[in-house]
Amino acid sequence: MGCYRVQLVAIISFMLLLSNTHGWGDDGHAIVCKIAQARLSTAAAKAVKKLLPKSANNDLASKCSWADSLRVVFPWSSALHFANTPDSVCNYKDTRDCVDKKTGIKGRCVVAAITNYTNQLLEYGSDTKSKYNLTQSLLFLSHFLGDVHQPLHCGFFSDKGGNEINVRWYRRKQNLHHVWDASIIETEVERFYDDIEDFVDAIQRNITKVWADEVEEWESCSNDDISCPTIYATESAKDACKWAYKDATEGSVLEDEYFLSRYPIVNLRLAQGGVRLAATLNRIFDTQFAVSM
Ligand SMILES: *[C@@H]1O[C@H](CO)[C@@H](O)[C@H](O)[C@H]1NC(C)=O
Ligand SMILES: *[C@@H]1O[C@H](CO)[C@@H](O)[C@H](O)[C@H]1NC(C)=O
Ligand SMILES: *[C@@H]1O[C@H](CO)[C@@H](O)[C@H](O)[C@H]1NC(C)=O
Ligand SMILES: [Zn+2]
Repeated sequence: MGCYRVQLVAIISFMLLLSNTHGWGDDGHAIVCKIAQARLSTAAAKAVKKLLPKSANNDLASKCSWADSLRVVFPWSSALHFANTPDSVCNYKDTRDCVDKKTGIKGRCVVAAITNYTNQLLEYGSDTKSKYNLTQSLLFLSHFLGDVHQPLHCGFFSDKGGNEINVRWYRRKQNLHHVWDASIIETEVERFYDDIEDFVDAIQRNITKVWADEVEEWESCSNDDISCPTIYATESAKDACKWAYKDATEGSVLEDEYFLSRYPIVNLRLAQGGVRLAATLNRIFDTQFAVSM
């Protein structure tokens, strides 16, 4: 019995440890979902409100990291948070990179997951009840649309998207993946903003001013596709090489030079993630679309 308890404690500590290693951090995901929810059409806002669990109080951001909390409980879901490329390859290819490398099963990565949960949500409001829990579909989609915009979620396979590159973030020991999940955002908020809300406001202001001319292009998918995650993964793979891995190798000390040149990329990716999550949800829940499907 005592031995069992020790094991249980060990397993739970291990789960807590693991649950921290992937995805934008909680803040990054919350930022993406906050930006998105403010841009929803009336129909999409209504559907999201209905699908969210009561405990969310109609705040999508509060449930945006739900998928991370499941990685250990649902081991099948852990490959769905990323899509790694071969080493030094700066582009993303479905057939090559969308594979659960642990099991060798194809079609299991963040890109396929976005398509999967988009398709499930299209059953919302149809006469036959979906066999899926559409609350979960919404929470998965909202999370993975964020993940695919974090460049190191489309990083290299052998260093696990930067998880195995040890660096220093100023004085602190950190791995490169975590720098991009959380540290850059934390340092930005610390230096430039009152709090996360203030940071979100600043991104939203830039979406309507600095990036106003680009937003339509961010939102659009070719061929009337409802979501286009391959494009987002391709951008991330490119940014991973150009910005994340560049000048950051094992043992690097990353300070102002890295921070000041990279935080604009993080801001852009958070903005694009939010804008595209909203555009995707709007297309899904637009009743005309649903009827024509
Ligand atoms: C699609 O969603 C279902 C339900 O959550 C899940 O069992 C399946 O593994 C998902 N597949 C992908 C590729 O996301
Ligand atoms: C659907 O999933 C949510 C979130 O995990 C859960 O709270 C809810 O009870 C589930 N609904 C059904 C009908 O199983
Ligand atoms: C907003 O845009 C300005 C001008 O390009 C830039 O200096 C600032 O860092 C941006 N802020 C955010 C949060 O994107
Ligand atoms: Zn994730």
